[in-house]
Amino acid sequence: MQNIEDVQKDLLTKIAASDAPRELLKTPELKKLYGVIKDLPAEDRGAYGKNVNELRVKLEAAVLSRESELEDVNVEAIDVTAPWDANTGSLDLLPTEYGTQHPLTTELANVVDIFTRMGFEAFESRQIDDDEHMFGTLNFPENHPARDGYDTFRTEEGFIPPAHTSTMQNRILKDGKAKLEAGGQIAAVSYGRVFRNEDVDATHEHTFYQCEGVFVSRDATLGQMLGTLRSFFETYYGQKLKIKTQPAYFPFVEPGLEFAIEKPAALGGKSGEWLEMLGCGMIHPNVLSSAGIDPNEYRGFAWGGGIERLVMLKYGIEDLRYFESGKLQFLRKFA
Ligand code: PHE
Repeated sequence: MQNIEDVQKDLLTKIAASDAPRELLKTPELKKLYGVIKDLPAEDRGAYGKNVNELRVKLEAAVLSRESELEDVNVEAIDVTAPWDANTGSLDLLPTEYGTQHPLTTELANVVDIFTRMGFEAFESRQIDDDEHMFGTLNFPENHPARDGYDTFRTEEGFIPPAHTSTMQNRILKDGKAKLEAGGQIAAVSYGRVFRNEDVDATHEHTFYQCEGVFVSRDATLGQMLGTLRSFFETYYGQKLKIKTQPAYFPFVEPGLEFAIEKPAALGGKSGEWLEMLGCGMIHPNVLSSAGIDPNEYRGFAWGGGIERLVMLKYGIEDLRYFESGKLQFLRKFA
């Protein structure tokens, strides 16, 4: 038995340093150990055989582990995250035509993520909607001039590709009614593409993205709304910000406000340079009523704004048209 231990110690040391570890399993000392078994008294054979067998298993494991160590040394390290060309296997950077995630997709996900972490549920907005959700449930009277402000497209069937994400408000309110009645709150954001029949220039696009927030409780206040928006913007830009509001008219809020931040010095702003970021306000009683929520019992606030504007400020992008331009060199800067 002493002999088994000696052989084991010696071979394990040799295997760990060998370039051909498997060869060592053929050493004569080992063969001898296997060979003596038949010369042993019958009562010793079992215990001896068991020990030899354990030795064999240990040596085999040591050989395998040494072999895989040797293999690792011979294979070049591979960066599994590097883009590669499936046809040639080349690890060189892909040519531009392979594309990357669009910066608006990335940033929209960031925005939604911040609100989700603040406790808002997120819903993607619809890309085709109707007059009722675009105007009716949002307290736009029939033939009211405020409707014209939204430059809406219409399909031949009379459907409307939404001109703002506020088209989701009525659905969010109706869905959330049960939560209110159970003593809870409605806290939701909707996000998605919106469309306006506008001439395109550096600051106007026919297709862009918005994110909308809706909050309803028994005692929601304008102060809560401003706190929510401040903390969103400060998180998104990663710094403290100065904010201000000014009165604005939207039929679906009362009072209605425009929310502005002072352009941060870190992003090239001068003090006193204000940027309007979004529209907001306390949800109009008629909007609550049209979702079956009693405005005498519940109050809410809502806001909505464009994603492009946020992103342009963050990265110093001057022309809105770049986003839809298909300029891959521009888009790849955000990859
Ligand atoms: N929907 C408005 C717009 O696009 C913004 C807004 C949303 C204003 C919610 C107030 C409340 O112009």
